[in-house]
Amino acid sequence: MIKLEHVTKVYKKSEGPAVADLNLHIGKGEVCVLVGPSGCGKTTTMKMINRLIEPTSGTIFVDGQNIMDVNPIELRRNIGYVIQEIGLFPHMTIAENIATVPLEKKWPRDKIRARVDELLQLVGLDPNIYRQRKPRDLSGGQRQRVGVARAMAADPPVLLMDEPFGALDPINRGKLQNEFLRIQKKIQKTIVFVTHDIDEAIKMGTKIAIMRQGKLVQYDTPENILNAPASNFVINLIGGNRTIKQLNLIRVGEMMKEAPPVVELSAPTVKARELLAARGKDLLFAVEKDGRLAGYLSPQNAREEGQVADVMQEIPNSITPDATLNDALSEMLAFGKGFVCVVDEGGKPVGLVTLGTLMKAVGGNDNNS
Ligand SMILES: Nc1ncnc2c1ncn2[C@@H]1O[C@H](COP(=O)(O)OP(=O)(O)O)[C@@H](O)[C@H]1O
Ligand SMILES: [Mg+2]
Repeated sequence: MIKLEHVTKVYKKSEGPAVADLNLHIGKGEVCVLVGPSGCGKTTTMKMINRLIEPTSGTIFVDGQNIMDVNPIELRRNIGYVIQEIGLFPHMTIAENIATVPLEKKWPRDKIRARVDELLQLVGLDPNIYRQRKPRDLSGGQRQRVGVARAMAADPPVLLMDEPFGALDPINRGKLQNEFLRIQKKIQKTIVFVTHDIDEAIKMGTKIAIMRQGKLVQYDTPENILNAPASNFVINLIGGNRTIKQLNLIRVGEMMKEAPPVVELSAPTVKARELLAARGKDLLFAVEKDGRLAGYLSPQNAREEGQVADVMQEIPNSITPDATLNDALSEMLAFGKGFVCVVDEGGKPVGLVTLGTLMKAVGGNDNNS
């Protein structure tokens, strides 16, 4: 879908090239993450793909077309672009911001309105609340969501994302990463994603392109880069704890165990004891009437008489199936429990991850036993 052939960019003749003889093929539907230290040429590479910067030499093809044969404005309308500072227009509403490209493409008003609402839904913002707001009335994370929605507005086949979540705190960044991966599963765009954070690269990429001083030093799947780093430079970039980083590659939904049996908050504890005995389990989930997770019970908790609501323990943390096993580990460590509950988007229990689950996941990568 995107092909760079012998692409070089020299800004100043007195300095070395910012990008040097770069060859990169990005397949349709791939998320190619460009990663490497500051100044290695990631942004330059990305901006050459939508002609914000023109290469000094070499050729770039998008969807089979040499981009030098395409009108740059037309080219950019078909390539979504998301940057860290988002670049929302402050005087325009969220709806107007998202509608920028569809308006340029002269879509009918009804179609634009419907598309704006669809996109706000997709990125998790209620259209009725956010459509008419101005960017300044949104949090950083919400603005970043709008930035993503705007880039996707006219449904371009290609998205370029330059450190899109770089300005967010770690918790919001993790959330947005997971949401974005969920969205990508649906929309299957070809994405070039820039980051300097190797953990983000491992998590987001189907392929990772590691750059150093304008050159490509390794281009492979996250698995292969972790298992077979091509040089000491790559080893240092990956850093310590390669085993733990492998947990970034695995989604909770792929490995989670069946959720424990559930018991309603209003039920008497004798019901909980019966369930534990009948199923031979040592954990029960307590749920609200509508099925949402409220807490958990151990056999000790269930021994007391009373209502489930009185004896259950609160659940401080839960995760969704699209989180990574590394997220699961962080939650376990943060809250000092050997398990974390998995809930769906509506908060209903769908599974359980334990330390055992994590051991099994990383154990699969070494065959000593
Ligand atoms: N407009 C510019 N003029 C001159 N040099 C630039 C310009 N933009 C980037 N550079 C230089 O090119 C190199 C690569 O920059 P950049 O692509 O922004 O790296 P990255 O995104 O990986 O941090 C750096 O040495 C940077 O200083
Ligand atoms: Mg950059």
